[in-house]
Amino acid sequence: MEIFHDIQKLRQSLDTKRLEGKNIGFVPTMGYLHQGHLSLIKSSAKENDVTVLSIYVNPTQFAPNEDLDNYPRDLENDTKIAEEAGADIIFIPNNKMMYIDNHVTYVNVHELTDNLCGLSRPTHFQGVTTIVTKLFNIVQPKRAYFGQKDAQQAIIIKRMVKDLNIPVDIVVCPIIREHDGLAMSSRNTYLNQQERSEATILNESLQKAKLLIEAGERDSKVIKNTIESMINSKPSANIDYISIVSQETLKDITTIKGSILIAIAVKMGNTRLIDNIQMEV
Ligand code: PAF
Repeated sequence: MEIFHDIQKLRQSLDTKRLEGKNIGFVPTMGYLHQGHLSLIKSSAKENDVTVLSIYVNPTQFAPNEDLDNYPRDLENDTKIAEEAGADIIFIPNNKMMYIDNHVTYVNVHELTDNLCGLSRPTHFQGVTTIVTKLFNIVQPKRAYFGQKDAQQAIIIKRMVKDLNIPVDIVVCPIIREHDGLAMSSRNTYLNQQERSEATILNESLQKAKLLIEAGERDSKVIKNTIESMINSKPSANIDYISIVSQETLKDITTIKGSILIAIAVKMGNTRLIDNIQMEV
């Protein structure tokens, strides 16, 4: 496995591989890798000749009051487990390289960024779409892998590559969960014992919602109220949003029908967690 910190050197290496007819698979991450990331790397390694993993904690997707400085980092462990999972190249740029002093260009996807996480994190997706576009331009992958846990991010990126004719296939991989159902996230590491044990309520409430819909409930309000009262029964939980939206538009729906996404964001103590399920009704 090779590690690159320099954009030009990475480009040269990938140009050579492309000339040899090799397909590049790409897994962009902010590091502190867990099983969810490893499943993306494994999928890429299966479907491509070369898998590039990027590790970069992107400052522009954090608001000033968010956890940028404290975001967990462990490069040594990341490189070890990424190689075991099948990564061929790791790209670890720094801020100076990614955002030159007079950086004034940003990528904005409208409408899809207005709801869900966009409501409480209004600048977040502009940071994500900008850095992902930059990374796509540097790596020029054939396929790029994202996790379903960040459902809104995956939908926005799919739309961005479609609207901007970026020649990358976006592959969205299923959520990987802990043994008790908690969706894997680098932020789980912030949870204290009580918060960690109560955090299973996110998945439990989504599973309950799924059962109600399967039993015929079609009123979004009833489903949201059920999720709300389950989550509010946990002392460390503080709900940011519970939304039922169309997967296509990410707009709220009142009657459950078609391809829907039930998405939730909950603060457990100071740690904001997200989870979701998709359903065809
Ligand atoms: O999902 C993430 O970890 C980040 O948003 C991404 C896609 C690596 C961009 O910084």
